[in-house]
Amino acid sequence: MTILGIETSCDETAAAIIEGRDDHVTLKANVLATSLALHAKTGGIIPEQAAREQVKFILPVIKETLEKANISLADIDAIAVTYGPGLIGSLLIGVETAKTLAFVLNKPIIPVNHMVGHIYANFITDFSLPTSHFSPPKFPLIALVVSGGHTDLLLMKKHGGFQLLGGTRDDAAGEAFDKIGRMLGFSYPAGPDIERLAKEGNPKRFRFPRPLLHENNYEFSFSGLKTAVLREITKLSSWSDSSADGESRSQFSTNSNIILDSQTKKDIARATQDAIIEILVKKTLRAAKEYQVQSILLSGGVAANQTLRDTFTKALIIHNPELRTNFFAPAKNLCTDNAAMIASAAYFNNNPLPWKEITADPELYF
Ligand code: KG4
Ligand code: ZN
Repeated sequence: MTILGIETSCDETAAAIIEGRDDHVTLKANVLATSLALHAKTGGIIPEQAAREQVKFILPVIKETLEKANISLADIDAIAVTYGPGLIGSLLIGVETAKTLAFVLNKPIIPVNHMVGHIYANFITDFSLPTSHFSPPKFPLIALVVSGGHTDLLLMKKHGGFQLLGGTRDDAAGEAFDKIGRMLGFSYPAGPDIERLAKEGNPKRFRFPRPLLHENNYEFSFSGLKTAVLREITKLSSWSDSSADGESRSQFSTNSNIILDSQTKKDIARATQDAIIEILVKKTLRAAKEYQVQSILLSGGVAANQTLRDTFTKALIIHNPELRTNFFAPAKNLCTDNAAMIASAAYFNNNPLPWKEITADPELYF
């Protein structure tokens, strides 16, 4: 089955062609245009501007995807599209484009939840392995979705069966990386910058809190971590007005006008990353033990973090071999937003709807 995937939930315009056969999905083409550089100039994503960029990119991106896969629209069996969550203006571009194609070509259209898409990036065959060696994740499984907007832990007993065990009460893990990165002078997305700095950071110099780590639930909270880092930076910084009031302090927190020496930045990055990783890995492993799962699936932009991936692998292989749980993380380019994951989710949850019934839903959840 050949599926064209379309993803436009935020600042990326993405299209992909996948080929699904039995329990395997292979990637034929994966194209992405991003308006990130434009948003970096303003320090954040302006939704209307993101939507305008989506309009500009959507048709060229689909055209390039078809060319790369060397197929025509007529060869496609179905169209998959992200219908939420995300920015309404951006979502509408993908949804309306997909509906138009479905109508004109008389093809089925499968609406996909963006977060479900992230999980299904794990079902795409990894080209770095010979196909015969790729065995897809087995159920029951625990899926941890860690992106800029979400930190969700789910139990899945079968394709399409999502039991939400817990989510974040405030900031998402990616948001914590981004906000703390901003305090250190980096623009969005700051996760990769924190990861780079953390490699040379001293793990013993700072220790930031691990909220909810020992509570008997699967919920997360990262806003306290952000406050603890801000407090530390305020203490250390040569910012002259140490008695800054709330307003100037919040200005300070969103400003790169901070004078910290480069080793201090590295040490803060290391302590931030250590705290986030410990919370994510320990809570996920606790769920894996409780539900006796066969697989753990990491996904979302933060899944691109190599230290997080390595910590999961070590936690399972070295510290909990008795669990016999396999760990999966998508290829790094499939962790952040892309359309291949949307097409993959559609292949394994092939629930087409009449195009008239599909509408964008910015608040969609599991
Ligand atoms: O899934 P995604 O591309 O977009 C959303 O749906 O939010 O995730 C983006 C998030 C950003 O917060 C970014 O800082 C984070 O993923 N991220 C990382 C890394 N690469 C991306 N966080 C930590 N380490 C990384 N290497
Ligand atoms: Zn995403």
